Amino acid sequence: MKPSNISSLIRYPIRDVVLEAKKEEKKGKKIIYLNIGDPCAYDFDPPKQIVDGVKKALDQKYKGYAPSAGDPELREAIAKIEGCGNESVFVTSGLSEGIEFAMRLLLDTGDSILLPNPTYPLYLSKADVLSTKTLLYECDDEWHPDPEDIRKKIEKRTKAIVVINPNNPTGAVYPRKVLEEIANIAAENNLAIIADECYDHVIFEEGVQMHKLKDIAKDCLVFSGNSLSKNFLYPGSRVGYVAIHRDKEGLFTDAFNRICNQRLSVNWEFQRAAIAAYNMNFDFLKPSLAKLKRRRDIIRKRVEEIPGLRMMSPPAALYAFIQVEGYKGTDWDFVYDLLRTEGVLTVPGSAFYKDPKKRLFFRATLLPDEKTLDEAMGKLQKFMKARVG
Ligand SMILES: Cc1ncc(COP(=O)(O)O)c(C=O)c1O
Repeated sequence: MKPSNISSLIRYPIRDVVLEAKKEEKKGKKIIYLNIGDPCAYDFDPPKQIVDGVKKALDQKYKGYAPSAGDPELREAIAKIEGCGNESVFVTSGLSEGIEFAMRLLLDTGDSILLPNPTYPLYLSKADVLSTKTLLYECDDEWHPDPEDIRKKIEKRTKAIVVINPNNPTGAVYPRKVLEEIANIAAENNLAIIADECYDHVIFEEGVQMHKLKDIAKDCLVFSGNSLSKNFLYPGSRVGYVAIHRDKEGLFTDAFNRICNQRLSVNWEFQRAAIAAYNMNFDFLKPSLAKLKRRRDIIRKRVEEIPGLRMMSPPAALYAFIQVEGYKGTDWDFVYDLLRTEGVLTVPGSAFYKDPKKRLFFRATLLPDEKTLDEAMGKLQKFMKARVG
């Protein structure tokens, strides 16, 4: 017996690199982990109301299966935020499951989906498993999507455009004009939009405004995706959602219900806790955003000082997407070389980005405390000096 061919297509580089780091750790090397966007792995915590909500829910015996589409009170709280009916909200196991479900509902074998380049790798992996084609649309120097490129790449069997705003891995937040153009393209070509907005409150640069696609794209189907993982610093809750907007005939709402039914439900106690989250204001996030901004500034300053490195300063999300010049080898060589030489773990850029210009990138998280980041950047500087000069 062999595992299925489909299973061999499943890759998740953000976690795959950790296996290599663990081997180094076993040999006694101290590793600084800059590979993952989990706030709780660093000095961030979810708001106490939400954590207390989990305990309270367990005391109240929320231990059975929840309704498959989600706890009714939670759906109501989310519907208020999304400006849609409660029946259009589906609670999923993180946004990850929401992405999988939305893609499953929209795509048949042989259909295609437009993804940003760079993209969050889950979309690539899910498309492979669904035997669908991915069409990558390019971004400009500030990592904003190029609507003309989207238009050019649409094929006969294209069904949807994914927009990740704020973006992982670049941290870019898209201007309203760009989103309007994407909305027009979707409407003109009868495409759905999957709006992945799970960092929409993790914006630390003053004056940068986030525009939600559901408010802009009035003439096409929009799946708005979000979760507790980043906005509420609680990835372990595994609570996310998809809200379906402008499903005129209710066909996708009906299909989403059916796909939720087959996996029974999301953990009920965490859904009950999420009700508190979706009724809170975002003042609790202010100190975390201030920390992220300071940490972004440390990385930016050090990158500016190190010959061979450059980056666009991210206004949002949890990552810096850094370009390397002068290194002899691939981005995977770079990441493993940096890990084995200096004990700093990052993620190869090609996990996110198929760069038409074949440049070398890696992604580092902004999350570690300032002392750790200083140490990591010092090690990176030493490494670059040795390899690039
Ligand atoms: C852009 C983007 N979408 C979706 C997810 C999935 O998040 P979760 O399943 O934890 O809600 C992530 C996680 O890093 C992400 O960066």
